[in-house]
Amino acid sequence: MEKFRYVKPSKEWEEQTIDFIHEFEEMNSSIDGTNQLHNYFDSYDDWLDKIEHDRMKTLTEDAVPAETFFFVRDSDNKMVGMINVRLALNEKLKRLGGHIGYCIRPTERRKGYNKINLYMGLLYCQEHGIKEVMLDCEKDNVASAKTILALGGKLIKEWYEDDIYHCIIQDYVIDVDKSIEQNKSVYEKFISRR
Ligand SMILES: CC(C)(COP(=O)(O)OP(=O)(O)OC[C@H]1O[C@@H](n2cnc3c(N)ncnc32)[C@H](O)[C@@H]1OP(=O)(O)O)[C@@H](O)C(=O)NCCC(=O)NCCS
Repeated sequence: MEKFRYVKPSKEWEEQTIDFIHEFEEMNSSIDGTNQLHNYFDSYDDWLDKIEHDRMKTLTEDAVPAETFFFVRDSDNKMVGMINVRLALNEKLKRLGGHIGYCIRPTERRKGYNKINLYMGLLYCQEHGIKEVMLDCEKDNVASAKTILALGGKLIKEWYEDDIYHCIIQDYVIDVDKSIEQNKSVYEKFISRR
């Protein structure tokens, strides 16, 4: 059985990270949960600085503290996904964005990986005292909606977003403790403890 772990971005992952983000470009895939990695194609070091800086931010209407992880498969040490967890939300993110953004690289999709990724993200939220996680996704993003639903997400609102995405957005909440309790028998076995 494959196992997975979170890795904090660092210089030694530069080559894999560039390969990862190129795959999204090549396959014309949307990207989420990378903390703007796609805008730092030629400046990995600057992106690492940004990640470090974001970790330290204090909550304001313009900024929130956030942590970014690589979601790595143990067997081949391959970066198969990413997650970005906002540890506090300002009004802007409560309206659009929520606590968590995530992605799985196109060639590794539909293997149940993102459900494991979100489960691990919820564990991280629990460690940081977040009781209820807010997530949103475009209504057409079935893979993301199903990930959220699989982890016990409750749809609380559907609305038309007219400024950035121009589409119907679904807002979900997940009760963190409850989701972990209900899903640990399914997902704990996939987590690497190395
Ligand atoms: C959304 C995303 C992370 C899903 O990753 P994934 O590893 O393929 O998801 P999983 O394999 O864990 O599947 C999660 C659920 O979605 C379903 N699913 C996955 N891809 C699907 C697709 N293309 N069509 C329909 N259902 C799909 C799976 O069957 C599963 O549902 P189930 O629990 O009922 O079986 C991935 O598609 C991605 O990176 N997309 C681009 C970035 C993005 O959209 N991020 C989210 C923004 S809100």
